[in-house]
Amino acid sequence: MKVGLLYSRIRVEEKWLLEALEKRGANYEKFDDREVAFKLEDPEAWTSFDVFLERSISYGRGLYFCKLLNAWGVPTVNAANVADTCGDKLWTSAALKRHGVPQPKLRMAFTPDAAIDAMEELGFPVVLKPVIGSWGRMVSKINDRDAAEAILEHREALGNYQQNIFYIQEYIKKPGRDIRAFVVGDETIAAIYRHSGHWITNTARGGKATACPVTPELNDMCIRAAEAVGGGVLAIDLFEDPDRGLLINEVNHTMEFHSSVPATGIDIPGKVVDYTMNVGRNKDKWFAAYQPVPKDIVD
Ligand SMILES: Nc1ncnc2c1ncn2[C@@H]1O[C@H](COP(=O)(O)OP(=O)(O)O)[C@@H](O)[C@H]1O
Ligand SMILES: [Mg+2]
Repeated sequence: MKVGLLYSRIRVEEKWLLEALEKRGANYEKFDDREVAFKLEDPEAWTSFDVFLERSISYGRGLYFCKLLNAWGVPTVNAANVADTCGDKLWTSAALKRHGVPQPKLRMAFTPDAAIDAMEELGFPVVLKPVIGSWGRMVSKINDRDAAEAILEHREALGNYQQNIFYIQEYIKKPGRDIRAFVVGDETIAAIYRHSGHWITNTARGGKATACPVTPELNDMCIRAAEAVGGGVLAIDLFEDPDRGLLINEVNHTMEFHSSVPATGIDIPGKVVDYTMNVGRNKDKWFAAYQPVPKDIVD
């Protein structure tokens, strides 16, 4: 059994994953995503692998790498279609909606005027996000119409087409924290609270991690969210709404966990490696279960 690992940089996470592979005596090889190149007529260099763990920092590189490998019959953790869904916040919302998983109210608009109308209808404050992005970048809380007009004018002036796709959520009044939970296969293996004085709680932005108990309710909600996007190794962001309880904010298909391991004492890299090796041992089963996540919004 041969395992491949695609990486952009050896962060703490990749160091731990490589150590876990070593500890299991795995036959593995690692590839820097800035150096790989593919020949469509010559896939043999890649098809000798039984499974690939994709740890690219770049959404695009990781996604297209998995598309190629899956097309050549090599499973990836996660599947290309899961990366496709999770990497785009609208597709994630659509998948959650299809599966009846609760999430904050969402509006989409494509011009500043339509966006302002949607924000007024939703009620301020609202949160405006790029459909593709991470680490809380460009995620903006807009408290009133004046702020909305200013920010939308700036977005329009920036000119990039992504700036004119407006993904607008209601603002959830979180209790100074939110939840990040880790799903591996059919189990929520660990969860942390991310505490912050700032409304953006990403640990990459200074949010502090403490252990969060994995209650049956939390496990159930996370498994439903994971299944909605196609399953695998996933990190789920949840909000505790004062009235509605747990809501799913987003699902991430590659995740950092350097602060979650010390906070929870759970061997996240070990579990990710065990899951990946298990996929490699059961390739046929994996491809039999491999169902592209439907991209239509209506049931
Ligand atoms: N609708 C919202 N209400 C309250 N806080 C939010 C909302 N959306 C995002 N946040 C905060 O901003 C952070 C980043 O937003 P998120 O949607 O997870 O984008 P990213 O992909 O950049 O992590 C979240 O972890 C959360 O702390
Ligand atoms: Mg997030």
